[in-house]
Amino acid sequence: LLADLALVGFGNVGRRFAGLIEERRGRLAADFDLTLRICGIATRRHGSAWDAGGLDVARAAREVEAGRALTSAAGSADLIAELSRSDAPLRIVVETTTLDIAAGQPAIDHVRAAIDAGCHVVTANKGPVAFAYDELRDRAGAAGVSFLFEGAVMDGIPIFNLVREALPLVDVIGFRGVVNATTNHILSALEDGEAFAPALARMQAAGIAEADASLDLDGWDAAAKTAALANVLMGARMTPHDVDRIGIDEGSGPRAREAVAQGNRLRLVASASRGPDGRVRGLVRPTVLPGGDLLAGLTGQANALVLQTDLLGEIAIGQLGGSLTQTAYALVSDIVTIRTRQPAPAGARARRTL
Ligand SMILES: NC(=O)c1ccc[n+]([C@@H]2O[C@H](COP(=O)([O-])OP(=O)(O)OC[C@H]3O[C@@H](n4cnc5c(N)ncnc54)[C@H](OP(=O)(O)O)[C@@H]3O)[C@@H](O)[C@H]2O)c1
Repeated sequence: LLADLALVGFGNVGRRFAGLIEERRGRLAADFDLTLRICGIATRRHGSAWDAGGLDVARAAREVEAGRALTSAAGSADLIAELSRSDAPLRIVVETTTLDIAAGQPAIDHVRAAIDAGCHVVTANKGPVAFAYDELRDRAGAAGVSFLFEGAVMDGIPIFNLVREALPLVDVIGFRGVVNATTNHILSALEDGEAFAPALARMQAAGIAEADASLDLDGWDAAAKTAALANVLMGARMTPHDVDRIGIDEGSGPRAREAVAQGNRLRLVASASRGPDGRVRGLVRPTVLPGGDLLAGLTGQANALVLQTDLLGEIAIGQLGGSLTQTAYALVSDIVTIRTRQPAPAGARARRTL
């Protein structure tokens, strides 16, 4: 089955996604009978490109990495319109633009435009799910397309897939986690007596920190993830601005070292719980945790989330180090989900038995 793709955003994540689908081309075909063809790329300052027969994406990546612009000036709306005219059985917009913490835009408009054009949409941007989850889910449902966002929270950790696919009938009643790799890396470095600035610089050099690193440090990224998780898993209808939020700064060094001296750990903890009035409250706080707490043991870029559930008690899921590959993988896994949602042709046998 052929899927034509338009990439809206072609930065660190978008380019790694393009590389990963090339590396997994054989497996996508063998395991899922799926061929992905990138026909469009849109950026903000590096131009755009469209070729209905498939772009030379490696070349486009080299151009953008060298700071040059792609040749077309068409905007993302034009590209989505082009994609909607493709006669490929699957048309998918891959949204990886920069997080906007004021209102989640223009990513929400990109998702709306994709859905309204009859295209599926996958995104690693937290904005749509943190600011407009209910609306976009319902819009996609009415249009008969998928809106998926596994990469928006905790890179490749399959948190939304886990709850959707593996926990039927289970209610998530709360969660707490370490969900921001940049601040966890910095707190670990501070514990070891390192200075704040070089630890942050390492995360920026690795492409892990947000384009505007204050989004990580001030807790906005964690607040956006908290809102996204609470909206999807707990029906919260909140935005990142509703999350009670404190981040980390240079002053976190002495607190982190004092915590270690007492057998504890300072971690930036994101959490949500439902109050007696039924409303979900989100919190992001540097928190002193006992040394034996599962979240206290997370060092460097490690992330983990503990879900509090009604039927299964507490379930933890984590990863020891996130990277661009994990985020790109989340986008690919969403595309595989879209593929597996398509009705199988009569007489087809499942290719995977697990
Ligand atoms: N990096 C990570 O490890 C990671 C992990 C999970 C989730 N995410 C999320 O994934 C998204 C992308 O992250 P990234 O690291 O790839 O960021 P990035 O390197 O800054 O790339 C962002 C891309 O979006 C483009 N863009 C921005 N605004 C646009 C607009 N209005 N229309 C079209 N294109 C636009 C940029 O174009 P120009 O370069 O021309 O401005 C660039 O190509 C963000 O939302 C981020 O929060 C990132």
